[in-house]
Amino acid sequence: MSLFRTKSVEQSIADTDEPEFRLKKSLSALDLTVFGVGVVIGAGIFTLTGRAAHDVAGPAIVLSFVVAAIACALAAMCYAEFASTVPVSGSAYTFSYASLGELSAWIIGWDLILEMFLGASVVAQGWSAYLGAFLGQLGIALPPELSYGGVVDIPAVLLVLVLGGLMTLGIKESLRVNLVLVAVKLFIVLFVIIAGLMFVNPANYQPFIPASEPTEAASGLTQPLLQFLSGLEPATFGVGGILAGAALVFFAYIGFDVVATTAEETKKPQRDMPIGIIASLVICTILYCAVALVVTGMVSYRDLDPAAALANAFVYHGQGWMATVISAGAVAGLTTVVLTLLIGATRIIFAMSRDGLLPQRLAKVHPRFRTPWVISIVVTVIVAVVAGVTPVGVLEEMVNIGTLSAFVLVSIGVIVLRRTRPDLKRGFRVPWSPVLPIVSALVCTYLMLNLSVETWLRFLIWLALGFAIYFAYSRRHARLGTGDFLDPSKPRVVGPPGR
Ligand code: ALA
Repeated sequence: MSLFRTKSVEQSIADTDEPEFRLKKSLSALDLTVFGVGVVIGAGIFTLTGRAAHDVAGPAIVLSFVVAAIACALAAMCYAEFASTVPVSGSAYTFSYASLGELSAWIIGWDLILEMFLGASVVAQGWSAYLGAFLGQLGIALPPELSYGGVVDIPAVLLVLVLGGLMTLGIKESLRVNLVLVAVKLFIVLFVIIAGLMFVNPANYQPFIPASEPTEAASGLTQPLLQFLSGLEPATFGVGGILAGAALVFFAYIGFDVVATTAEETKKPQRDMPIGIIASLVICTILYCAVALVVTGMVSYRDLDPAAALANAFVYHGQGWMATVISAGAVAGLTTVVLTLLIGATRIIFAMSRDGLLPQRLAKVHPRFRTPWVISIVVTVIVAVVAGVTPVGVLEEMVNIGTLSAFVLVSIGVIVLRRTRPDLKRGFRVPWSPVLPIVSALVCTYLMLNLSVETWLRFLIWLALGFAIYFAYSRRHARLGTGDFLDPSKPRVVGPPGR
């Protein structure tokens, strides 16, 4: 039954004390909140709001944001409980290793790699799109072949390389840069809300929930799995549109879970992790609902630009300079999202290789920078290549499905760990467990069913690849299996095998 072997919480915590693998503990609750807001507010609000309102939900897109926020709030509480109990790098992956067992842990880790690698690549491409728009507003044109949507997206590649370098040099330094960029981003979002209020026309809210209408757009492999399975006629708007919109704008909330990946670098994880995770989610939910209301009030949903709605709502009202400011802000804002997702990806792989599920040599911490530098470089190069050459618009839903599947497993893991280890000190407890964690798992599953058949097929291929690697490599090399682990009661230093 080694597939279900678990790594004890004590063992996970003891691991973090091995000098070779030790990270610097420097983050406070405020750092975590800034980090969270930095990664959450990004391509989602700047691009998806317009597309979702225009295509599926109308002004009721604000309700989609509320539904997605509820799903995230439930999952966030589960994350907060785990992160305050098992303050170890690796987020959901580490949590499930302690509760659901090794195979689930591997799959979760594998899903999170999908979320963060593709998330970073997609947002880097979005960044490049806004850079192009911004430069365009200044009258500078980039060569189409070598920019957003071209053969190779050079600006996206350069962005990833610069940010990857920053990350390799040290997380505290990266966070300082993050702080400035997050401030710019918040300013821009507040600017959209306050300046936009002047242009709101209440007539644009009629009808608030447009009547459901049949559509040709979503059929075959592109229709939601739920629609495919139930044989319902493809339709948009109406109540179904609100839910489809929620599955889409879920992307805008992705990232608060990444806060949990830095648990090990937090000074007081028991107290600060729940604050960081929940505060970032609350701030983003309020801002998103306000932006959604203002933008759909400024321009009728039928006329919203599905690509860059925020900036173009101002162009619509003849405020070109405001649009330029917003594009510039989006460029700054998306930068921090890419950076944080890169850091998150590194931390997940760090945790997995430290456990031997991936080659342990990768997990070496740099003696001076105290960052996992080998992994940082590998992640940077792969994300740069994916961002540079993947066609635009293919990978977004993959990010959603990877994240939602991790949320489902984390929610179940909370219930399991309460049963198996009731004795552990929990800095934060999900109220009404097991009801809320079960509702959380169900809501996330429901949103997953609203993603397209095509996405599900790609996801299944990704999972099959994950299983293959697990059975061919990870299972045999896991330190839990080889006995090459610290016994928490007997301190000793364990190095990578073969040395
Ligand atoms: N939530 C992040 C964004 O909106 C991924 O870009």
